[in-house]
Amino acid sequence: MYNNTFQQLDSYLVSLQRFWQFEAFHHHDYPWHVSDPALCDFLDNLSEQELQLYQQQPEKLQPLLNAFIGSLRALNDPLFNVKPLSFVEPDTPFWLSNGIKGRKWSQISAFALQIQDQNPVVEWCAGKGHLGRLISWQQKLSVTSIEWQQTLCDLGAAEANKMQLMQQFKQADVLKGEADSCIDANCHAVALHACGDLHLRLIALAKTHKPAQLTISPCCYHLTSQPIYQPCSSSGKKSSLIITKQRLKLAVNKQTTTGKRQSRLSEQEVLWRLAFDELQKQCLNTTSYFPLPSFPKTLLSEDFNAFVLWAMQEKSLSFALPRSLQPFLLSAQQRLKKVRRMELISQFFVRPLELWLVHDRALSLQESGYHVTLSTFCDEQMTPRNLLIQAQRKGATDARCDLLLY
Ligand SMILES: C[S@@+](CC[C@H](N)C(=O)[O-])C[C@H]1O[C@@H](n2cnc3c(N)ncnc32)[C@H](O)[C@@H]1O
Repeated sequence: MYNNTFQQLDSYLVSLQRFWQFEAFHHHDYPWHVSDPALCDFLDNLSEQELQLYQQQPEKLQPLLNAFIGSLRALNDPLFNVKPLSFVEPDTPFWLSNGIKGRKWSQISAFALQIQDQNPVVEWCAGKGHLGRLISWQQKLSVTSIEWQQTLCDLGAAEANKMQLMQQFKQADVLKGEADSCIDANCHAVALHACGDLHLRLIALAKTHKPAQLTISPCCYHLTSQPIYQPCSSSGKKSSLIITKQRLKLAVNKQTTTGKRQSRLSEQEVLWRLAFDELQKQCLNTTSYFPLPSFPKTLLSEDFNAFVLWAMQEKSLSFALPRSLQPFLLSAQQRLKKVRRMELISQFFVRPLELWLVHDRALSLQESGYHVTLSTFCDEQMTPRNLLIQAQRKGATDARCDLLLY
């Protein structure tokens, strides 16, 4: 079943690659300006109000785009539907959620609700082990929380001790194999938002260490050491898609609602980055895009001149600055207009790409001998990373069933 959906997602993403396989920042014009001139005209003619409307409500844009991209699917197309799991926030004593923000607590509660068996739990990349703590309390289960940062382990262990829970912490770097021995045939491995390679490592371990169950909510697909995405299923490996690490970011590129001041500042940041790129292209006589690292946001309260000096120092660049930087800001404004319009199109591929990546993981677990289900464990408003992979090893029973058999 998942293979069929994967194949459909794959054909869809392959056939419309020109609309999402690009870095908007690297282009002065639409990557499809030769193949789709009518679409370019349509985008260029959108007013700023229309742009904002369609950024916030892309479902209003999709019917209009069908005139230019006939096969573009609506965001709620059945191909992108994933079965939602029901969620009722459980009644828990206040001290269990102490220090955990509301939305995070809701995510944790929704995830924990899905852990219904009695196998000892291994919490993969646990942070302070909030999830493990709730599971241990709710299910009276032993939980081993694995975390790389010793301070988080210490904080989590102190909480668990205070609450007298069966939760232990193990400081380990999962990427170095330091936690492999924690995964065995009796355990239920859970991973809530373990980024990129971290959850991929767990999926790879399912092949060799065969935990009884896995429950994984993947995130940050781009946090990987591989420059090009390496599919983990055999269907994924047959795909013709070549997805760079940078492009994987699209899968987590959901618009989040930010305050007016914050969106003004992030718009200014993008503008300055583009303007600096224009400047360096002229001064260094190059055509390549020049990425800059992240910087303290206080820099945005200074002027563009100060930003340029920071960027040059940061990147050890030395060139004579033109008398006025204004022309670079003006051409960046033109570029930014196009960038925003390119993103109007690529936003239709955010969920399809994420689903393609998650199906690749689900299929890999099927190949390792698991019954797999894919669903959403909470509402998108709680977290856009709401996909859940549940895998049960074929023939595995949970410890409670074993007890009942005796
Ligand atoms: C996004 S946080 C998720 C934490 C927790 N599961 C949650 O949802 O609140 C990812 C966690 O993975 C940990 N981590 C990063 N690299 C790791 C590694 N190589 N081995 C083990 N843990 C790692 C980080 O320190 C961080 O606490």
